[in-house]
Formats: sequence, C-alpha cells, structure tokens
Amino acid sequence: MARLIIISNRLPFSVDHDGDQVSIRQSSGGLVSAIKSYFESDAAKNSNITEKIWMGVADFSREDFDREVVPKLDKYDFTALPIFIDKALYKDYYNGFSNSTLWPLFHYFPSVVEYHSHYFEAYSKVNSLFAETLLPILQPDDVIWIHDYQLMLLPGMLRARAPKATIGFFLHIPFPSYEIFRTLPTDWKMNLLRGLMGADLVGFHTYDYVEHFVQSVRMVLGADNSFRSIQYQNRLVKADLFPIGIDYKKFSNAGNEPEVQELRAEVQKNFEGKKIIFSVDRLDYTKGLMDRLIGFEYFLNQHPEWQERVVFMLNVVPSRDDIIAYTRRKRTIEEKVSSINGKFSSISWQPVIYRYMHLPFNELAALYQSADVALITPLRDGMNLVAKEYVASTVNQRGVLILSELAGAASELNEALLVNPTDVQDVSNAIARALAMPIPEQKQRMALMQKRLIDYDVIRWVNDFLDQLSNVKTEQNKQQTK
Ligand code: F6P
Repeated sequence: MARLIIISNRLPFSVDHDGDQVSIRQSSGGLVSAIKSYFESDAAKNSNITEKIWMGVADFSREDFDREVVPKLDKYDFTALPIFIDKALYKDYYNGFSNSTLWPLFHYFPSVVEYHSHYFEAYSKVNSLFAETLLPILQPDDVIWIHDYQLMLLPGMLRARAPKATIGFFLHIPFPSYEIFRTLPTDWKMNLLRGLMGADLVGFHTYDYVEHFVQSVRMVLGADNSFRSIQYQNRLVKADLFPIGIDYKKFSNAGNEPEVQELRAEVQKNFEGKKIIFSVDRLDYTKGLMDRLIGFEYFLNQHPEWQERVVFMLNVVPSRDDIIAYTRRKRTIEEKVSSINGKFSSISWQPVIYRYMHLPFNELAALYQSADVALITPLRDGMNLVAKEYVASTVNQRGVLILSELAGAASELNEALLVNPTDVQDVSNAIARALAMPIPEQKQRMALMQKRLIDYDVIRWVNDFLDQLSNVKTEQNKQQTK
C-alpha cells in the first residue's frame, strides 16, 4: 500500500476569474488528460494506491486556496498540493528556461533557443522549491512520479535528501539527438542529466528518444550502460519506452451523449454536401500550423474540383501567450487564414473556419465525429494525442487520419497517411487521397489503429510505468545485497 505523488509543472486545473465569478477549467495538454483519466478509472480505485496527491504550481492565489474560493477541489478525487511561486521567478522558469530554452531545443528549433544564465538559475530555484515542499511530507513507501521537462532537476534534488525514495520520471516531449543536446552549455547539460539520473526509471514515448537519452548520458556523464540499464554512482537507473495512450472509452463512447449528438447534427446540417477537414492544436510553432495552411492552399490550387466542396476547420487553443515566439505566430497564422479565405471564398463558401479558443469536451467530440479527415501535421511532437483521440472517436470507423511522420504517434499509427509536414506537395496529395478514399479502405485502416489504441490505453500506460518502477527497485535491492 502506498501513496502516489504526481508532480508536474501545472496542477490539472486552472482557475478563471470573471469579476466575482470563479470557474474551474481542466488544464490543456496530454499529460493532464492522461493522469486525470487514470485517477478516475476503476483501475486506480482497485489498485494498492491509498492516496493520490498531485503537486504543481498554482495559477491562483494562496488566499483563494485557503478561503476555498477555488471551489469543489474534492471532486477531483485527489489531494492538490499547490506551490505558490513569485511571478517574476515563475516567468524566468516557465517562459524562460522551460519554454524558451528547453522546449525549442528538444523540438529541434535551435535557432529559437535563448541562452540566459538567469533563466537557468530560476529553473533550478523552482525545482528546488518543489523539493522543499515535498520533502517534509514524504513517507518511506511513497511512489513519486515526476512529469516533464520543466522538472528535470527535481529527481536528483530529491535523491540527494531521500536516497531510498522511489522516483519515476516521464518526459512528454522528444529527447533530442546528442548532437542537438550537446549544444547546451556544459554546466546545464550535466546538471540536467544528473537531475534525471536521480530517478530510478526514466520513461519516454519512443525508442529513438530512449536511445538519444542513453547516448547523452554516456557522452556527457560517462556512465556505463548495458542496453537500457545504466549504472550511475553505484545505482541502477533504467530508461525505457512507454508510448502514452488515451482514455479510449471516453472518446469512443462520447457519441452516446445527447449533447454530442445534437452538436454533431448541427455540424452536419451546416456543412451538408461538404467534406470536413479538422485540426485542433495548442498555438505552438512546433505544431506546423503555418505549413499546414500553406499545404491546404496548395491543395485548393492543385485540385480546383474540391473548391466549394471542402472546409478546413482549424481550431487553435491559446497557449504560452506571454512568449513572443508564440504571439508572433498567432498574427502570421491569422493573416494566412484571411488571405486564403480572401482568395478562394464565394458567397456560399468559406474554405477555412478558424477559431482561437479552448474547446469544451462535448464540442471537441462532436467535431472529431463529424470530421472526414483529421489533418495533424506537427513539425515535431513528443507523441500527439489528438491523432489518437480522433481515431478513437470516428463513427463506424469512417474517417482518415493524415499524420506527420515527425510526431511520436507516427511510430504506432502506421495506417495513417503519413506525410512530411514541410512538403506541400506531399500534404496536398495526402488531402486529395484522403478525401477520395473508399469507405472499405477507411474502415480497414481505422480498425487496425483502433485495436492498437484499445490494447495500450492510458491505464495500461500508467500500470506499465508503475510496475516497471517497482521492478527497478527490486533489482536495485538485489544488486545491493550481492
Ligand atoms: O506535453 C508537453 C506539455 O508541456 C505538458 O507538460 C503540458 O501539460 C502541455 O504541454 C501544455 O503546456 P503548458 O502547460 O505550457 O500550457
């Protein structure tokens, strides 16, 4: 029996203030939906976890929390452990080192990377605040599971003070090749890897990311490894792959909800006689939104027979809007949408329907179900759960997924039409092929992908990771008694 302590940069909910009105919204991103789905599942209820604790930075004030202005926290079925961080410090840690240094570098955008020592100092400080908050309440049997690139120093900080602790770490973004990773200043890259090596198990989405990590550990820290087992400072650390899954039933059953059915009927009525191409992404330069629009424009030019007969619904979710690389992107995307619509629209047809907002779940589900094609073409993506959610949502297995070969999900969803996101001809050909694909072929492809997603859903992902973490502890104990 153990407590499971999830640690991520964000808590799984955000608090919106509108005058006196306070509302709670689920945070965006795959990490939050994955862990939340697990927490709500029977598997979690039937497991030997006695208590679930989720620790993360609060986006609300300490006063709001203490006075319970943040309502109904208990409905989340876990104990929230918020950390309150000074705004200026958080900015250098989150906008700075996390999202202007690590994020672009790990997604292969070296020209966007900013190198500032005060960013790294803030990153270290916030990681140590997490450690200081956790250590006083830590119990010997606790299982600690740290998530993502914002907290890469934390496992090492905890290990230094709690040598026997059980610590897992999962990276939700790509781990880049050593040639990219090595461009970081020596001190930073050593500290980041030493931090990760404080964990007992370090998990990644794909085989390539594991390989890249193990190579970096060998080159930078000189640690010996045999395959995915690394010996570091007389301790065994394992690196392994755990491709994150989705809450399959949540998406496949969504069509039973009356509201989803109504919304879907409305979409079908409004776009009768037209095919729908759908995409939804956070506003991020890694998502390839500009290339996607250029690909769609190229398609309309190459295939005038589809004009008036297809709409591209482009849904962009606000994200990291204090960072200049993101706001600049928003402007250029909106200009491109206007220029395509200005060029091709008629009195009865607008080719791109663009929205910039958080989509409520029922609407997202209705749109997934209505889409003839999902066009998901990131320039780089750790996994991409939208692709998996679309596959799970299709009605009668009708629909075609066009997916970037540079998304982690491409290594599992081989029956999608895989494209190079920067190759306009490739994207345009795939759109034409998807729109004309015979229904039996759509079904055949979907059935194979769905089977894989059912077999390895989010519950399997969590269970596999936690089982493997406990196996590493057993192996370590055996090594020590030898
Ligand atoms: O998947 C990568 C990730 O950064 C997650 O850690 C996070 O939940 C998601 O993307 C959304 O990012 P942010 O929390 O910066 O809005």
